[in-house]
Amino acid sequence: MPLDMIIGAQWGDEGKGRVTDMLAAQTDIVARYSGGDNAGHTVTVQGDIFKLHLIPSGIIHPNTTCLIGNGVVLNPAVLLREMAMLTDRGIDVGPKRLKISRNTHLITPAHIALDKAKEARRGDSAIGTTLRGIGPAYTDKTSRVGLRAELFANPEELADQIQAHIAEKNEVLTKIYGAEPLDADAVAAEYAQFAQRLRDYLVYGSVYLDKALKNGRSVLAEGAQGTFLDLDHGTYPFVTSSAPTSGGVLVGLGVGPRMVGRVIGIAKAFTSRVGGGPFPSELDGEMAHRLRGTGDKPWDEYGTTTGRPRRVGWLDLVMLRHAARINGLTELVITKLDILSGIDEIRVCNAYKLDGETIDFYPSDIPSLSRCQPVYKTLAGWQEDVMDIRELADLPQAAQDYIQFIANETGVPVTAVSVGPGREQVIHL
Ligand code: IMP
Repeated sequence: MPLDMIIGAQWGDEGKGRVTDMLAAQTDIVARYSGGDNAGHTVTVQGDIFKLHLIPSGIIHPNTTCLIGNGVVLNPAVLLREMAMLTDRGIDVGPKRLKISRNTHLITPAHIALDKAKEARRGDSAIGTTLRGIGPAYTDKTSRVGLRAELFANPEELADQIQAHIAEKNEVLTKIYGAEPLDADAVAAEYAQFAQRLRDYLVYGSVYLDKALKNGRSVLAEGAQGTFLDLDHGTYPFVTSSAPTSGGVLVGLGVGPRMVGRVIGIAKAFTSRVGGGPFPSELDGEMAHRLRGTGDKPWDEYGTTTGRPRRVGWLDLVMLRHAARINGLTELVITKLDILSGIDEIRVCNAYKLDGETIDFYPSDIPSLSRCQPVYKTLAGWQEDVMDIRELADLPQAAQDYIQFIANETGVPVTAVSVGPGREQVIHL
Protein backbone atom coordinates (compact mmCIF):
# COMPACT_ATOMS: atom_id res chain seq x y z
CA MET A 1 0.00 0.00 0.00
CA PRO A 2 1.49 3.33 -0.94
CA LEU A 3 1.83 6.68 0.69
CA ASP A 4 -0.39 9.27 -1.02
CA MET A 5 0.23 12.96 -0.59
CA ILE A 6 -1.99 16.01 -0.49
CA ILE A 7 -0.06 19.11 -1.50
CA GLY A 8 -1.18 22.73 -1.69
CA ALA A 9 -0.41 23.95 -5.20
CA GLN A 10 -0.78 27.68 -4.42
CA TRP A 11 -0.24 29.80 -1.28
CA GLY A 12 -2.18 27.60 1.13
CA ASP A 13 -5.93 27.69 1.84
CA GLU A 14 -6.66 25.65 -1.28
CA GLY A 15 -9.17 23.43 0.52
CA LYS A 16 -6.76 20.63 1.43
CA GLY A 17 -8.71 19.81 4.61
CA ARG A 18 -11.84 18.86 2.68
CA VAL A 19 -9.85 16.72 0.22
CA THR A 20 -8.08 14.99 3.11
CA ASP A 21 -11.45 14.42 4.69
CA MET A 22 -12.72 12.94 1.41
CA LEU A 23 -9.79 10.51 1.09
CA ALA A 24 -9.44 9.76 4.81
CA ALA A 25 -12.55 7.60 4.65
CA GLN A 26 -10.51 5.02 2.68
CA THR A 27 -7.19 5.59 4.48
CA ASP A 28 -5.79 3.91 7.58
CA ILE A 29 -3.38 6.64 8.71
CA VAL A 30 -3.41 10.39 8.06
CA ALA A 31 -0.15 12.16 8.89
CA ARG A 32 0.82 15.83 9.08
CA TYR A 33 4.38 16.37 7.83
CA SER A 34 5.16 20.08 8.07
CA GLY A 35 4.11 23.41 9.51
CA GLY A 36 2.28 23.85 12.78
CA ASP A 37 -0.79 25.69 14.02
CA ASN A 38 -0.22 28.37 11.38
CA ALA A 39 -2.38 26.08 9.25
CA GLY A 40 -6.14 26.14 9.35
CA HIS A 41 -8.25 23.34 7.94
CA THR A 42 -12.00 23.72 7.71
CA VAL A 43 -14.05 20.58 7.22
CA THR A 44 -17.83 20.62 6.94
CA VAL A 45 -19.61 17.37 7.88
CA GLN A 46 -23.40 17.39 7.51
CA GLY A 47 -23.54 21.09 8.28
CA ASP A 48 -21.14 20.75 11.24
CA ILE A 49 -18.02 22.83 10.82
CA PHE A 50 -14.68 21.64 12.25
CA LYS A 51 -11.76 24.07 12.28
CA LEU A 52 -8.47 22.34 12.93
CA HIS A 53 -4.98 23.77 13.05
CA LEU A 54 -2.75 20.97 14.18
CA ILE A 55 -4.53 17.63 14.39
CA PRO A 56 -4.86 16.01 10.94
CA SER A 57 -8.41 16.40 9.60
CA GLY A 58 -8.56 12.59 9.28
CA ILE A 59 -9.43 12.51 13.00
CA ILE A 60 -13.08 13.15 12.10
CA HIS A 61 -13.30 9.64 10.56
CA PRO A 62 -13.66 7.09 13.36
CA ASN A 63 -11.45 4.41 11.74
CA THR A 64 -8.49 6.61 10.90
CA THR A 65 -5.36 6.95 13.01
CA CYS A 66 -3.56 10.31 12.90
CA LEU A 67 0.12 11.06 13.24
CA ILE A 68 1.82 14.38 13.88
CA GLY A 69 5.09 13.83 12.02
CA ASN A 70 8.61 14.94 12.84
CA GLY A 71 8.50 17.76 10.27
CA VAL A 72 5.79 19.56 12.23
CA VAL A 73 6.45 22.19 14.89
CA LEU A 74 4.05 21.48 17.70
CA ASN A 75 2.56 23.89 20.21
CA PRO A 76 1.33 21.54 22.97
CA ALA A 77 -1.08 24.14 24.39
CA VAL A 78 -2.84 24.40 21.02
CA LEU A 79 -2.84 20.62 20.61
CA LEU A 80 -4.51 20.09 23.98
CA ARG A 81 -7.11 22.78 23.22
CA GLU A 82 -7.93 21.09 19.93
CA MET A 83 -8.11 17.69 21.62
CA ALA A 84 -10.54 19.11 24.19
CA MET A 85 -12.72 20.65 21.44
CA LEU A 86 -12.89 17.34 19.56
CA THR A 87 -13.60 15.36 22.75
CA ASP A 88 -16.49 17.74 23.51
CA ARG A 89 -17.90 16.96 20.09
CA GLY A 90 -17.74 13.22 20.69
CA ILE A 91 -14.54 12.43 18.80
CA ASP A 92 -12.03 10.03 20.36
CA VAL A 93 -8.56 11.58 20.53
CA GLY A 94 -6.90 8.99 22.75
CA PRO A 95 -3.39 7.62 22.09
CA LYS A 96 -4.82 4.80 19.96
CA ARG A 97 -6.11 7.34 17.45
CA LEU A 98 -3.56 10.13 17.68
CA LYS A 99 0.22 9.80 17.75
CA ILE A 100 3.11 12.22 17.95
CA SER A 101 6.54 11.50 16.50
CA ARG A 102 9.13 11.66 19.24
CA ASN A 103 11.39 13.87 17.11
CA THR A 104 8.75 16.54 16.44
CA HIS A 105 9.99 19.95 17.56
CA LEU A 106 8.08 21.94 20.16
CA ILE A 107 6.95 25.55 20.00
CA THR A 108 7.27 27.48 23.25
CA PRO A 109 5.99 30.89 24.41
CA ALA A 110 9.51 32.21 23.70
CA HIS A 111 9.14 31.31 20.01
CA ILE A 112 5.83 33.15 19.88
CA ALA A 113 7.27 36.23 21.65
CA LEU A 114 10.18 36.24 19.19
CA ASP A 115 7.88 35.87 16.16
CA LYS A 116 5.94 38.94 17.35
CA ALA A 117 9.08 40.96 18.15
CA LYS A 118 10.68 40.17 14.80
CA GLU A 119 7.57 41.02 12.80
CA ALA A 120 7.18 44.32 14.67
CA ARG A 121 10.84 45.15 13.96
CA ARG A 122 10.39 44.43 10.23
CA GLY A 123 7.83 47.25 9.99
CA ASP A 124 6.66 47.85 6.42
CA SER A 125 8.52 44.81 5.14
CA ALA A 126 6.86 42.43 7.61
CA ILE A 127 6.24 38.92 6.24
CA GLY A 128 2.76 38.91 7.72
CA THR A 129 3.39 35.71 9.67
CA THR A 130 0.63 34.06 11.70
CA LEU A 131 2.56 35.01 14.89
CA ARG A 132 2.39 31.38 16.08
CA GLY A 133 6.15 31.06 16.66
CA ILE A 134 6.66 28.94 13.55
CA GLY A 135 9.78 30.67 12.17
CA PRO A 136 11.65 30.85 15.52
CA ALA A 137 10.85 27.18 16.28
CA TYR A 138 12.26 26.05 12.92
CA THR A 139 15.24 28.37 13.43
CA ASP A 140 16.02 26.56 16.68
CA LYS A 141 15.62 23.22 14.91
CA THR A 142 18.16 24.11 12.22
CA SER A 143 20.44 25.74 14.82
CA ARG A 144 20.34 22.38 16.65
CA VAL A 145 19.03 23.88 19.89
CA GLY A 146 15.36 22.88 19.53
CA LEU A 147 13.26 21.05 22.08
CA ARG A 148 11.70 17.83 20.84
CA ALA A 149 8.53 16.04 21.90
CA GLU A 150 10.61 13.08 23.14
CA LEU A 151 11.39 15.25 26.18
CA PHE A 152 7.82 14.56 27.36
CA ALA A 153 9.11 11.13 28.38
CA ASN A 154 11.92 12.64 30.42
CA PRO A 155 10.49 15.33 32.77
CA GLU A 156 13.78 16.26 34.45
CA GLU A 157 15.59 16.81 31.20
CA LEU A 158 12.56 18.74 29.89
CA ALA A 159 12.65 21.08 32.91
CA ASP A 160 16.40 21.71 32.47
CA GLN A 161 16.07 22.35 28.75
CA ILE A 162 13.10 24.70 29.19
CA GLN A 163 15.04 26.72 31.80
CA ALA A 164 18.07 27.04 29.52
CA HIS A 165 15.88 27.81 26.48
CA ILE A 166 13.90 30.58 28.20
CA ALA A 167 17.05 32.09 29.75
CA GLU A 168 18.70 32.32 26.32
CA LYS A 169 15.58 33.68 24.58
CA ASN A 170 15.04 36.24 27.35
CA GLU A 171 18.45 37.71 26.56
CA VAL A 172 17.46 38.14 22.93
CA LEU A 173 13.97 39.40 23.75
CA THR A 174 15.13 42.02 26.25
CA LYS A 175 18.50 43.10 24.84
CA ILE A 176 17.76 43.04 21.12
CA TYR A 177 14.04 43.65 20.91
CA GLY A 178 13.38 45.56 24.15
CA ALA A 179 10.56 43.09 24.89
CA GLU A 180 9.40 41.72 28.25
CA PRO A 181 11.21 38.61 29.54
CA LEU A 182 9.28 35.37 30.12
CA ASP A 183 8.99 33.60 33.47
CA ALA A 184 11.07 30.42 33.02
CA ASP A 185 9.59 28.70 36.10
CA ALA A 186 6.05 29.27 34.89
CA VAL A 187 6.86 27.93 31.41
CA ALA A 188 8.66 24.90 32.91
CA ALA A 189 5.64 24.14 35.12
CA GLU A 190 3.27 24.45 32.18
CA TYR A 191 5.39 22.15 30.01
CA ALA A 192 5.68 19.59 32.82
CA GLN A 193 1.88 19.37 32.73
CA PHE A 194 1.85 19.06 28.94
CA ALA A 195 4.40 16.25 29.23
CA GLN A 196 2.20 14.35 31.64
CA ARG A 197 -0.79 14.62 29.37
CA LEU A 198 0.97 13.90 26.09
CA ARG A 199 3.74 11.39 26.80
CA ASP A 200 1.51 8.39 26.04
CA TYR A 201 1.04 9.75 22.52
CA LEU A 202 4.74 9.48 21.57
CA VAL A 203 5.87 7.05 18.87
CA TYR A 204 8.91 6.56 16.66
CA GLY A 205 7.08 8.06 13.68
CA SER A 206 9.19 6.68 10.85
CA VAL A 207 9.22 3.16 12.36
CA TYR A 208 5.48 3.33 12.98
CA LEU A 209 4.74 4.30 9.36
CA ASP A 210 7.17 1.77 7.91
CA LYS A 211 5.55 -1.03 9.83
CA ALA A 212 2.09 0.13 8.80
CA LEU A 213 3.03 0.38 5.12
CA LYS A 214 4.65 -3.05 5.17
CA ASN A 215 1.48 -4.46 6.73
CA GLY A 216 -0.53 -3.15 3.81
CA ARG A 217 -2.00 -0.14 5.59
CA SER A 218 -2.51 3.04 3.61
CA VAL A 219 -1.05 6.40 4.61
CA LEU A 220 -2.16 9.84 3.51
CA ALA A 221 0.21 12.76 4.03
CA GLU A 222 -1.90 15.81 4.82
CA GLY A 223 -0.46 19.03 3.51
CA ALA A 224 -0.46 22.35 5.27
CA GLN A 225 0.38 25.69 3.63
CA GLY A 226 1.25 25.44 -0.07
CA THR A 227 4.01 25.20 -2.66
CA PHE A 228 4.48 28.99 -2.86
CA LEU A 229 5.08 29.18 0.90
CA ASP A 230 7.90 26.62 0.60
CA LEU A 231 11.16 27.84 2.09
CA ASP A 232 13.13 26.92 -1.06
CA HIS A 233 10.58 26.95 -3.86
CA GLY A 234 8.15 29.66 -2.76
CA THR A 235 8.25 33.45 -2.85
CA TYR A 236 11.20 33.75 -0.45
CA PRO A 237 11.36 35.56 1.99
CA PHE A 238 7.53 35.79 2.01
CA VAL A 239 7.23 32.11 2.84
CA THR A 240 6.82 29.87 5.85
CA SER A 241 9.83 28.18 7.44
CA SER A 242 9.27 24.62 6.26
CA ALA A 243 8.81 22.54 3.10
CA PRO A 244 5.11 22.03 2.35
CA THR A 245 6.11 20.36 -0.96
CA SER A 246 6.41 16.63 -1.73
CA GLY A 247 10.09 16.54 -0.74
CA GLY A 248 8.99 17.82 2.66
CA VAL A 249 6.67 14.84 3.04
CA LEU A 250 9.54 12.37 2.83
CA VAL A 251 11.71 14.30 5.29
CA GLY A 252 8.81 15.30 7.53
CA LEU A 253 7.60 11.72 8.00
CA GLY A 254 10.76 9.66 7.52
CA VAL A 255 9.46 7.65 4.55
CA GLY A 256 11.40 6.80 1.37
CA PRO A 257 10.34 7.80 -2.18
CA ARG A 258 9.64 4.22 -3.30
CA MET A 259 6.56 4.18 -1.05
CA VAL A 260 4.92 7.11 -2.84
CA GLY A 261 1.74 6.55 -4.83
CA ARG A 262 -0.42 9.56 -5.73
CA VAL A 263 0.82 13.14 -5.38
CA ILE A 264 -2.38 15.13 -5.38
CA GLY A 265 -2.09 18.87 -5.90
CA ILE A 266 -4.95 20.97 -4.58
CA ALA A 267 -5.70 24.30 -6.26
CA LYS A 268 -8.55 26.71 -5.92
CA ALA A 269 -10.36 27.71 -9.13
CA PHE A 270 -8.87 31.18 -8.51
CA THR A 271 -5.90 32.29 -6.38
CA SER A 272 -5.63 33.64 -2.84
CA ARG A 273 -2.83 34.56 -0.47
CA VAL A 274 -2.48 35.92 3.04
CA GLY A 275 0.50 37.93 4.14
CA GLY A 276 2.94 40.03 2.12
CA GLY A 277 4.83 39.37 -1.11
CA PRO A 278 4.24 39.56 -4.86
CA PHE A 279 1.04 38.17 -6.41
CA PRO A 280 1.04 38.72 -10.20
CA SER A 281 -2.65 37.94 -10.86
CA GLU A 282 -3.96 39.86 -7.83
CA LEU A 283 -7.27 41.70 -8.20
CA ASP A 284 -8.78 44.59 -6.34
CA GLY A 285 -12.13 46.34 -6.58
CA GLU A 286 -15.44 44.68 -7.38
CA MET A 287 -14.10 41.35 -8.67
CA ALA A 288 -11.89 40.94 -5.58
CA HIS A 289 -14.93 41.45 -3.32
CA ARG A 290 -16.83 38.98 -5.44
CA LEU A 291 -14.18 36.24 -5.07
CA ARG A 292 -13.38 36.94 -1.41
CA GLY A 293 -16.95 36.96 -0.12
CA THR A 294 -18.12 39.07 2.76
CA GLY A 295 -16.70 36.97 5.58
CA ASP A 296 -20.03 35.85 6.99
CA LYS A 297 -19.63 32.30 5.68
CA PRO A 298 -16.84 30.04 7.02
CA TRP A 299 -15.62 29.31 3.49
CA ASP A 300 -15.26 32.99 2.53
CA GLU A 301 -11.69 34.11 1.92
CA TYR A 302 -10.73 35.11 5.45
CA GLY A 303 -7.87 33.34 7.27
CA THR A 304 -8.93 30.33 9.40
CA THR A 305 -6.04 31.01 11.76
CA THR A 306 -5.80 34.81 11.75
CA GLY A 307 -9.19 36.00 10.44
CA ARG A 308 -7.37 38.31 8.01
CA PRO A 309 -9.07 38.98 4.65
CA ARG A 310 -7.14 37.09 2.00
CA ARG A 311 -5.77 38.76 -1.10
CA VAL A 312 -7.43 37.22 -4.16
CA GLY A 313 -6.82 37.04 -7.90
CA TRP A 314 -7.45 35.07 -11.08
CA LEU A 315 -6.16 31.53 -11.43
CA ASP A 316 -2.46 31.53 -12.31
CA LEU A 317 -1.38 28.58 -14.44
CA VAL A 318 2.28 29.63 -14.36
CA MET A 319 2.05 28.89 -10.64
CA LEU A 320 0.32 25.56 -11.17
CA ARG A 321 2.96 24.45 -13.68
CA HIS A 322 5.64 25.35 -11.11
CA ALA A 323 3.76 23.33 -8.48
CA ALA A 324 3.40 20.37 -10.88
CA ARG A 325 7.16 20.37 -11.52
CA ILE A 326 8.39 20.88 -7.94
CA ASN A 327 6.05 18.27 -6.48
CA GLY A 328 5.80 15.77 -9.34
CA LEU A 329 2.01 16.05 -9.17
CA THR A 330 0.17 13.02 -10.50
CA GLU A 331 -3.20 14.80 -10.44
CA LEU A 332 -4.98 18.01 -9.56
CA VAL A 333 -8.12 18.62 -7.52
CA ILE A 334 -9.78 21.97 -8.23
CA THR A 335 -11.80 23.47 -5.38
CA LYS A 336 -14.41 26.24 -5.16
CA LEU A 337 -15.53 26.09 -8.78
CA ASP A 338 -18.97 27.26 -7.59
CA ILE A 339 -17.52 30.66 -6.64
CA LEU A 340 -16.93 31.44 -10.33
CA SER A 341 -20.61 30.97 -11.29
CA GLY A 342 -22.22 34.19 -12.50
CA ILE A 343 -19.05 35.82 -13.84
CA ASP A 344 -19.38 36.77 -17.54
CA GLU A 345 -15.77 36.34 -18.53
CA ILE A 346 -13.12 34.49 -16.55
CA ARG A 347 -9.48 35.38 -16.96
CA VAL A 348 -6.65 32.92 -16.45
CA CYS A 349 -3.02 33.95 -16.22
CA ASN A 350 -1.05 31.71 -18.57
CA ALA A 351 2.32 33.51 -18.86
CA TYR A 352 4.12 36.60 -17.56
CA LYS A 353 5.65 39.59 -19.32
CA LEU A 354 9.00 40.33 -17.70
CA ASP A 355 10.85 43.40 -19.01
CA GLY A 356 9.16 43.04 -22.40
CA GLU A 357 9.80 39.31 -22.73
CA THR A 358 7.09 36.65 -22.37
CA ILE A 359 8.04 33.89 -19.92
CA ASP A 360 6.13 30.76 -18.93
CA PHE A 361 7.90 30.00 -15.62
CA TYR A 362 7.89 31.47 -12.12
CA PRO A 363 11.05 33.49 -11.44
CA SER A 364 12.51 32.70 -8.02
CA ASP A 365 13.69 36.20 -7.10
CA ILE A 366 11.30 38.77 -5.69
CA PRO A 367 12.54 41.77 -7.78
CA SER A 368 11.88 39.88 -11.05
CA LEU A 369 8.61 38.47 -9.81
CA SER A 370 7.47 41.94 -8.73
CA ARG A 371 8.01 43.19 -12.29
CA CYS A 372 6.06 40.32 -13.86
CA GLN A 373 2.84 41.38 -15.56
CA PRO A 374 0.21 38.67 -16.01
CA VAL A 375 -0.64 37.61 -19.58
CA TYR A 376 -4.28 36.55 -19.52
CA LYS A 377 -6.38 34.24 -21.60
CA THR A 378 -10.07 35.11 -21.37
CA LEU A 379 -12.50 32.22 -21.16
CA ALA A 380 -16.30 32.28 -21.27
CA GLY A 381 -18.00 32.21 -17.87
CA TRP A 382 -21.26 30.50 -16.89
CA GLN A 383 -24.31 31.79 -15.07
CA GLU A 384 -25.74 28.57 -13.62
CA ASP A 385 -25.37 27.60 -9.98
CA VAL A 386 -23.28 24.41 -10.00
CA MET A 387 -23.49 23.49 -6.31
CA ASP A 388 -25.89 20.56 -6.81
CA ILE A 389 -24.09 19.06 -9.80
CA ARG A 390 -22.29 15.72 -9.24
CA GLU A 391 -21.39 14.66 -12.82
CA LEU A 392 -18.94 16.40 -15.12
CA ALA A 393 -21.33 16.12 -18.08
CA ASP A 394 -23.98 18.10 -16.15
CA LEU A 395 -21.70 21.11 -15.67
CA PRO A 396 -22.25 24.05 -18.04
CA GLN A 397 -20.01 23.63 -21.11
CA ALA A 398 -17.99 26.72 -20.15
CA ALA A 399 -17.21 25.19 -16.73
CA GLN A 400 -16.14 21.92 -18.36
CA ASP A 401 -13.93 23.91 -20.76
CA TYR A 402 -12.38 25.76 -17.82
CA ILE A 403 -11.38 22.47 -16.16
CA GLN A 404 -10.09 21.01 -19.41
CA PHE A 405 -8.04 24.17 -20.02
CA ILE A 406 -6.35 23.78 -16.62
CA ALA A 407 -5.51 20.12 -17.32
CA ASN A 408 -4.18 20.87 -20.82
CA GLU A 409 -2.03 23.82 -19.77
CA THR A 410 -0.51 22.14 -16.71
CA GLY A 411 -0.18 18.67 -18.25
CA VAL A 412 -1.74 17.22 -15.09
CA PRO A 413 -5.11 15.45 -15.13
CA VAL A 414 -7.87 16.97 -12.99
CA THR A 415 -9.45 14.13 -10.99
CA ALA A 416 -12.00 15.97 -8.88
CA VAL A 417 -13.70 19.35 -8.64
CA SER A 418 -15.47 20.70 -5.58
CA VAL A 419 -18.64 22.75 -6.04
CA GLY A 420 -19.49 23.63 -2.44
CA PRO A 421 -18.25 23.24 1.11
CA GLY A 422 -20.15 20.05 1.99
CA ARG A 423 -18.55 16.60 1.99
CA GLU A 424 -20.82 15.47 -0.84
CA GLN A 425 -20.36 18.53 -3.08
CA VAL A 426 -17.70 16.98 -5.28
CA ILE A 427 -17.57 15.93 -8.92
CA HIS A 428 -15.24 12.97 -9.50
CA LEU A 429 -13.78 12.89 -12.99
P1 IMP B 1 4.33 31.73 9.32
O1 IMP B 1 4.18 30.36 8.74
O2 IMP B 1 3.40 31.99 10.46
O3 IMP B 1 5.76 32.04 9.66
O4 IMP B 1 3.92 32.78 8.18
C1 IMP B 1 4.68 32.95 7.00
C2 IMP B 1 3.79 33.21 5.81
O5 IMP B 1 3.05 32.02 5.51
C3 IMP B 1 2.74 34.31 6.02
O6 IMP B 1 2.51 34.98 4.80
C4 IMP B 1 1.50 33.52 6.41
O7 IMP B 1 0.31 34.23 6.14
C5 IMP B 1 1.65 32.32 5.51
N1 IMP B 1 0.96 31.12 6.00
C6 IMP B 1 1.37 30.29 6.98
N2 IMP B 1 0.49 29.28 7.14
C7 IMP B 1 -0.48 29.46 6.23
C8 IMP B 1 -1.65 28.70 5.86
O8 IMP B 1 -1.98 27.64 6.41
N3 IMP B 1 -2.40 29.22 4.85
C9 IMP B 1 -2.05 30.35 4.20
N4 IMP B 1 -0.97 31.07 4.48
C10 IMP B 1 -0.18 30.63 5.49
